[in-house]
Amino acid sequence: MRVVLFRSFTATLCCVAFLWAADATAEMAVRGMVAAEHPLAARAGATILEEGGNAMDAAVATAFAVCVLNPSSCGIGGGGFLLYYRAQDRQAFALDFRETAPRALRPELFFADGRFDARRSQRGGLAVGVPGEVAGLALAQERFGTLPLRVVLEPAIRLARNGFPVGSHLAKEIANNQRELAAQPQLARWFLHEDHRPRREGELLKLPELATTLSTIADEGPHAFYRGLIAREIVQAVREKGGVMTEDDLAAYAPKWRKPLAASYRGFRILTMPPPSSGGGVLLAALSILRADDLTRLGHNSPTYLHLLAETMKHVFADRARYYGDPDFVRVPLAELLDPNLTAALRRRILSTRTLAPNEYGSHLPPSASPAEDAGTAHLSVIDAEGNAVACTTTINTAFGAMVVAGSTGILLNNQIDDFAIAPNAPNAYGLVGSAANAAAPGKRPLSSMAPTIVLQGDRAVAALGGSGGPMIISGTLQVLLNVLVFDYDAVQAVAAPRIHHQWQPPVLLVEPQVDPTTRNVLERVGHTVREVPAMGAIQLVRRIPSGFDGAADPRKGGGASGW
Ligand code: GLY
Repeated sequence: MRVVLFRSFTATLCCVAFLWAADATAEMAVRGMVAAEHPLAARAGATILEEGGNAMDAAVATAFAVCVLNPSSCGIGGGGFLLYYRAQDRQAFALDFRETAPRALRPELFFADGRFDARRSQRGGLAVGVPGEVAGLALAQERFGTLPLRVVLEPAIRLARNGFPVGSHLAKEIANNQRELAAQPQLARWFLHEDHRPRREGELLKLPELATTLSTIADEGPHAFYRGLIAREIVQAVREKGGVMTEDDLAAYAPKWRKPLAASYRGFRILTMPPPSSGGGVLLAALSILRADDLTRLGHNSPTYLHLLAETMKHVFADRARYYGDPDFVRVPLAELLDPNLTAALRRRILSTRTLAPNEYGSHLPPSASPAEDAGTAHLSVIDAEGNAVACTTTINTAFGAMVVAGSTGILLNNQIDDFAIAPNAPNAYGLVGSAANAAAPGKRPLSSMAPTIVLQGDRAVAALGGSGGPMIISGTLQVLLNVLVFDYDAVQAVAAPRIHHQWQPPVLLVEPQVDPTTRNVLERVGHTVREVPAMGAIQLVRRIPSGFDGAADPRKGGGASGW
C-alpha cells in the first residue's frame, strides 16, 4: 500500500518570506523515498521500491530515467559518482564512473597559435571524455542491486520510446541554447520544431534512437556500449568533430571503487565522495572549519552567518584550486587539508569585520605536500525500508554537453574535458581555476565538484543528498546539510532556503534574490562584492524521520520526490 502525503511547498509555506518562492515537490512516506531532478524519474524509482527492489535498484532505474528526461544535463554519454551505504553490514562504498581523457589527448590540442582556445574543451570532439555512465550504473546494479539490469532499464526505455512531457528544466535549457541546437540537425530534430522554435514545457518528446540503444544495453549488457556498433558510432562522431578518442579507449574504460571520505559533525557521521571529485573533501573541510561555531546563535542566513559561510567557502575553494586532481595521477593531500588543526587555523583567520586579500585564502601547504606548480548534471537520493541509502550524481557537464551526437545511437556526448585545468589561470565554464594537479593528461579523470553524501546517526542512514550546478554543488550541499543538521529544517525547507555561493575565484559572492537588501549591504560593507543570480544549483534530499521518510526535490530545477 502506498502511503504518501503530498505537499505543495507554496501551499504550506507561502507565508514564510525568507524561503524560495517557487514550488518544491516533497513527499512523506513510510517505506522508502526517492528524490530526483524530474518527477517521473523519482516515480520510476519509487515504483521499483514498491515492487520489492532495494535502494540500488531504485537509484539505477532513476538514474537511467533522468538520462532520458533531462538529456541536457546527463545521459549515457556522460559519467558520475555514486555513494552507497549498505545497512546490513554498515559498510559504505564509493563508485567513480567519471569520464576519462582519451589516451591520445594532449593539452597542446586545445591551443591555436599558442593561445588556449576554450571552445575546444567545451564543444566538439576534443571536449568529450570516455563515458562512464553505463559501466558505472551497471556495475553498481550488479554488485548491490537485486533485479536484473534489464528490469531497471525498463522505465527509461519506455519513456524514451513512448515519449514524455518536456519538463521545466529541459524547456529552459532548450530555449537558452536554441541557436546552437538549430545548427545541429539531430539535436534540432529532437529539441526544436521544424521552424526551429524551441519545444516548450509540456510538449511530448520521444527519443526513439536512445530507446533502441538502451534496449541493446538491456539485452546484451554494458559491454554493448563499449565494444561493437555503438562504440564505433561514438568514436566516429567524436573524430569527425576533431576529437582523438579511439575504440580502444572505450574498450579500456573501467569504473573505479574508491574509499568514501568520512568525518563527524555534531554527532553525525558524514560519508561523501573522494577525489577525483573535489566535492566530498571540500565539503568536509568546510564543515571542519565551522565545527566549533554555534551557528544557531548566529541565526539562519543572518549577515554574520552568511559572511562566515562565504569566508569558509573561499578557504576551501582556494584549496580546491591548488591541491585537487585525479588521485591516480597526483597526490591529493587530503589528510593535511582535513586535519582539524589546519581547519581550526583557517577558522582563526576568518575575521568578522572584513574579508582578506585573495591570496590569503586557503591552506598554503608546504610545496612538498602538493604536486601543484602553478557547470548540467543531475543528482538523485534514495533511502529504502531496510536503511540502504544511495546518493548518485551524473552529468554530461554543461547543457547538452559537447553538442555532439553519436551517429544513430541517440547518445549525446559529454564535454567533461573542460573540467580539467588545461591552461594556467584560464577559468573553465564554471569560472573555476586549477593547478597542475588537475592538468589534462591521457587516461586521467578531470576534477569534479560532485558531492554525493550520506549522513549516518549511529549506524542508521538519516539523510542522502547531493546536487547539480558545478561548484554550486558543494556550496549547496553544505548549506542544505547545515539546514538539516544545525537548523533542524524539514526536507522542503532545507532545499528551498535561499543560498549563497563563493568559489574564491572569481572574487564575487553570489546570492539568490531572496537574500534581503539589508543583509547584502552588510556583506558589502565587510568587503564582499555581491552579485545576485536567479538560482544556484539544485539539491535533492531524502531524510529518514521517526514516522518514515521526508524527501524534497529542489524547486530550482523542477524535480520530484516520490515515496511509498
Ligand atoms: N562537470 C561538473 C562537475 O563534475 O563538477
